[in-house]
Amino acid sequence: ATESPADKKARPGEKKGFVEEMRFVAMKLHTRDQAPKEGGQPASPQPMQKWEPSHRGYLQFLAESQVVYNTLDGIIAEASHPEYARFQNTGLERSEPLQHDIKWMQEKYSLPQPQIKEDGPGNTYAKFLLKAAKEDAPVFICHFYNFYFAHTAGGRMIGSKISSMILDNANLQFYQYEGDYKPYLENVRDSINTIADDWTREQKDHCLEETKNSFSLSNGLLRLIFS
Ligand code: HEM
Repeated sequence: ATESPADKKARPGEKKGFVEEMRFVAMKLHTRDQAPKEGGQPASPQPMQKWEPSHRGYLQFLAESQVVYNTLDGIIAEASHPEYARFQNTGLERSEPLQHDIKWMQEKYSLPQPQIKEDGPGNTYAKFLLKAAKEDAPVFICHFYNFYFAHTAGGRMIGSKISSMILDNANLQFYQYEGDYKPYLENVRDSINTIADDWTREQKDHCLEETKNSFSLSNGLLRLIFS
């Protein structure tokens, strides 16, 4: 393929490996209130500092998130693309902890079972992931990376904020891992870098391009917290 000079320019993070490129693109999509050091977007209309979360909304967020995590578990177990098998038993899986937390919240705050609609944010995301996993591995891996890594970064900040505001500081299992989660992230980074080594520059760019869609689908879930 012929490359224009612009195509030859090194992408930010490229020297450190492909995951570093993914991280760079993701950090630029954060708003400044979300990530003051690296966020590249103007402050969000509803910055975390001004959140007014509700029990019902947060429970719905957990339940809709569980739909997505269950789907990710299924996709990885099936490994329709053999490289997905590298993501089996990463230690980052969240379905079981969520099951526990959902039950705990319902009991503690006398809440009804959350209703999961076919066209709700959880199933909307799940359907997208099932299709992408089969048809477009770079797109799927973009979502896989952003969803799990966002949870260990901003997700944990959100968790402790919500907990101090409306959960009497309870430490949900959603935010707890079997030991230190950092080595789990490191292993997943290595796996993604290995997989991406076989990708063309076009496939890599296609994966990076998908980051904004991954933000928009995740934000659909996060919005439930204040519903
Ligand atoms: C990293 C905050 C939403 C994807 C980070 C970091 C912060 C942050 C502070 C830097 C962590 C560090 O390097 O020490 C937030 C907040 C959010 C939010 C407050 C919403 C209220 C999202 C969303 C996505 C996302 C929606 C994508 C679906 C990522 C990724 C990283 C990151 C991929 C890099 C993690 C790593 O390198 O380990 N976030 N974020 N974040 N965030 Fe978010």
